[in-house]
Amino acid sequence: MSERVLVVGSGGREHVLAWKLAQSPQIQQVLVAPGNAGTANCGKISNSEVSISNHTILAQFCKDHHVGLVVVGPEVPLAAGIVDDLTAAGVLCFGPSAKAAQLEASKSFSKAFMERHSIPTARYGSFTDPQEACNYIRTADFPALVVKASGLAAGKGVIVAKDQDEACQAVMDIMKDRAFGAAGETVVVEELLEGEEVSCLCFSDGFTVSPMPPAQDHKRLQDGDVGPNTGGMGAYCPTPQVSQELLQQIRETVLQKTVDGMREEGAPYIGVLYAGLMLTKQGPKVLEFNCRFGDPECQVWPSPTSTNTGVCENGTD
Ligand code: AMP
Ligand code: GLY
Repeated sequence: MSERVLVVGSGGREHVLAWKLAQSPQIQQVLVAPGNAGTANCGKISNSEVSISNHTILAQFCKDHHVGLVVVGPEVPLAAGIVDDLTAAGVLCFGPSAKAAQLEASKSFSKAFMERHSIPTARYGSFTDPQEACNYIRTADFPALVVKASGLAAGKGVIVAKDQDEACQAVMDIMKDRAFGAAGETVVVEELLEGEEVSCLCFSDGFTVSPMPPAQDHKRLQDGDVGPNTGGMGAYCPTPQVSQELLQQIRETVLQKTVDGMREEGAPYIGVLYAGLMLTKQGPKVLEFNCRFGDPECQVWPSPTSTNTGVCENGTD
């Protein structure tokens, strides 16, 4: 591998990826595009202003600057095909293709995929018509109280309603008032699941899975688990909620099944697969898939040898 790596993104997740990559003796320089104040000038790490939305310009930049590997942090560029385009241009890029990233980019796709492959998840309906969604909410023989914009909405496109009226109102907000823009053209209405929520991630080469330590993040905006859902207000890892036995079960019934299913459907999943799970009384069920590292889960990877917080001192530690 060449000694120059480019990390795409601008959050804490990308900072920690750059920080960790910079510790490799094989890597001489880590560029972050666009990066943030923490990655601006940090030993081996610096920011780059190259466009990440124009993949032709980005590929040319990588060739001109001898970037041997691109590591993509967020879901939006993955869903926009950054891996497909860079790979086609001959630039090595870590992450799933746009087709595989649909597992996150389309909740409607991922629910139907789970149904096809008997991967445990909440019962649901998928709708492009608001009236049909409300009829389903009122007649389902389970509490169909979770309303989700199908497309990407930065973790905020999910409303957990307290009753049927609130769930129908959420449908109207998403589909008629376009609270989450085009992401809400299709809605998924789901059974309310109860339990502890955990994040189980793995690396995959499209065939095998290598799980990471399970984590828990705090979704609600305010203390005491109240307020609207966010993309994550904080995290810790490993979580005692997931024993070795449970992790093995999740590995077999969720992670490996998903990777096998995507390969069988012609969209091999290569990259980091993130399963957000509810630990229900009936066992773990998938709430969502993400096609990337978690933010903030990525920042709390437990390291037995390091007490370092990732704050830049000399740029490599
Ligand atoms: P998602 O983007 O689908 O993970 O949803 C965001 C958050 O909404 C999850 O992390 C859960 O806290 C909550 N949530 C989503 N689906 C359900 C469900 N079926 N039952 C209960 N809570 C849910
Ligand atoms: N922490 C939630 C996420 O990365 O989507």
